[in-house]
Amino acid sequence: MTASTPPARNPFYITTPIYYVNDRPHIGHCYTTTVADAAARFQRLLGRDVFFLTGTDEHGQKVEKSAAAKGVPPQALADENAAQFRAAMDAIGASYDDFIRTTQPRHKRQVQAAFERLVQSGDIELGTFEGWYDEGQEEYVTENQAREKNYTAFNGQPLKRASETNYYFRLDKYQARLEKFYDQHPDFVKPAARFNEVRARFRDGLQKVPVSRTNFSWGIPVPDHLPGGPGHVIYVWIDALLNYATALGKIDPVIAASCGVPAAERAKYWPADVHLIGKEILWFHAVIWPAVLMALGFQDAQLPRCIYAHSFFISEGKKMSKTLGNFIDLPTLTAYADRYSLDAVRWYLLTQGPLNETDADFSYAKFVEVYNADLANTFSNSCNRVGNMIEKYFAGAIPAPGAPDDSKLLVSDSVTLDARTVAADALRAAHAHLDRHEFDAALMQGQKLVTLVDQHINATEPFKLAKRIDEPGVRGQIAGILYRCAELLRVASLLLHPALPEKTAQLWRYWNLDILKDRNNPRSGFAAPLADLAAFRGRFAFKTGHAITKGDPLFMRADPKLPPPSAATSPTA
Ligand code: MSP
Repeated sequence: MTASTPPARNPFYITTPIYYVNDRPHIGHCYTTTVADAAARFQRLLGRDVFFLTGTDEHGQKVEKSAAAKGVPPQALADENAAQFRAAMDAIGASYDDFIRTTQPRHKRQVQAAFERLVQSGDIELGTFEGWYDEGQEEYVTENQAREKNYTAFNGQPLKRASETNYYFRLDKYQARLEKFYDQHPDFVKPAARFNEVRARFRDGLQKVPVSRTNFSWGIPVPDHLPGGPGHVIYVWIDALLNYATALGKIDPVIAASCGVPAAERAKYWPADVHLIGKEILWFHAVIWPAVLMALGFQDAQLPRCIYAHSFFISEGKKMSKTLGNFIDLPTLTAYADRYSLDAVRWYLLTQGPLNETDADFSYAKFVEVYNADLANTFSNSCNRVGNMIEKYFAGAIPAPGAPDDSKLLVSDSVTLDARTVAADALRAAHAHLDRHEFDAALMQGQKLVTLVDQHINATEPFKLAKRIDEPGVRGQIAGILYRCAELLRVASLLLHPALPEKTAQLWRYWNLDILKDRNNPRSGFAAPLADLAAFRGRFAFKTGHAITKGDPLFMRADPKLPPPSAATSPTA
């Protein structure tokens, strides 16, 4: 085993960025959270003990300014918008285990403790600094970066020359250890191209990072008794990154426990298996975050295992921007969910999203195309056809599968596969994709099985055979085909579940399957790990005579000629 493949363990810890409360939730936030949610659901299905964290980032000058512009105290703005983010995460079905807010005492008190420890260890020191400041991003950029960006900030405004007497984090001290860590952990940042970008920036040499501010007050105060005296607030990025540790009580278990964090129970989740983020905040996560942890005394094995930085959603071919006003906001996504179902929105985000190095488009035409192709015409249609035929020809009772070794799966005139093998292969492949954080590819393994079912029906035409159902052997032949189809769809539904939690649970109700511990509660957990649940003709397979109903189609075909759903016409908007 190399240093890059840490030993498998049961607990699984996944996080999203904590979102700024000066903004309203939009597709970008929903995307990251949905990917994290699907990953969390997959891991739970595999039988792992998952902790999925999301939340809100509530301090900093931007929040202070937005609140001032509205004439409300920053805490009031934070409360209002944090509630909106939480509602957004619930609206997209995120199964998070905790929602952390950086204004909570459990977080603030541990951040102060961390800061104090870093001052004591000499990793944070007082100093004066002058440089180019990006107000929107609340960060200083190096002279080289400033020149490359034409002295323009991320938000298009000019960079400002600024100087401050502040506390500084000695990031420079950690350059060599970080580089060694990266060498030993080639999968630390994914996708690989993003890792190269980060490493290229090391050529400039790492600089000290200012980690306190005195020009505004909406932040966690630096403890007054430290050498800089009163008046400093902790830099919002140091505050924010620490959320991943404070939520588990990893900075100070005693303080955490006194604020209600079950630190002893949560310690096992550390370190994060994956911090899922967008590409624009990679530097903070891939460089500053591990360096802060190193400074706090964490050994290499206790550093996050992977920082996964996805790209951006654009909208109808254009970058989403405040000026264009073309953000796909939550009411718009809700309007899509009202028309096509929440799972359909999740499916689009998960399978068409910008998981890799390139940005991805959210377009209405493509949404309908993908919806019809994958969901209505494939998954829903196959389940419906199979359910229908079992009702019609076998009075709704699962027919006999044939001989125990009868799993031949004719998928075209010339190709016969083995159903047991294709199911096992899909499972294995999904697992391998998940290990590499290829969440979309893992889902496609479920989709692939559905397609094979379709092909099997087309190649064997049970509906034609049914015309001769009373001839010797024909009933048994149809029985075998439908058994294989139902059983493969059962396996497929498990692999699709992380993307389509509601629709798959609905199918399991139609088909009377006890996959969840409590059929009516998708959060009740699974009856067994995926390997057992999904074995073709295994312990959880359909039994002959098992009663099913065909139910309604899971996804109705969509009419591409309809105008796009818009927030204004949505009943819930
Ligand atoms: N508060 C910081 C993160 C601190 S984490 C310790 C922050 N917040 S944010 O509200 O701006 O959210 C940024 C994140 O939202 C991105 O990293 C990404 O996950 C998501 N997205 C925002 N816009 C996006 C798109 N257009 N497309 C996809 N995701 C993007 O940065």
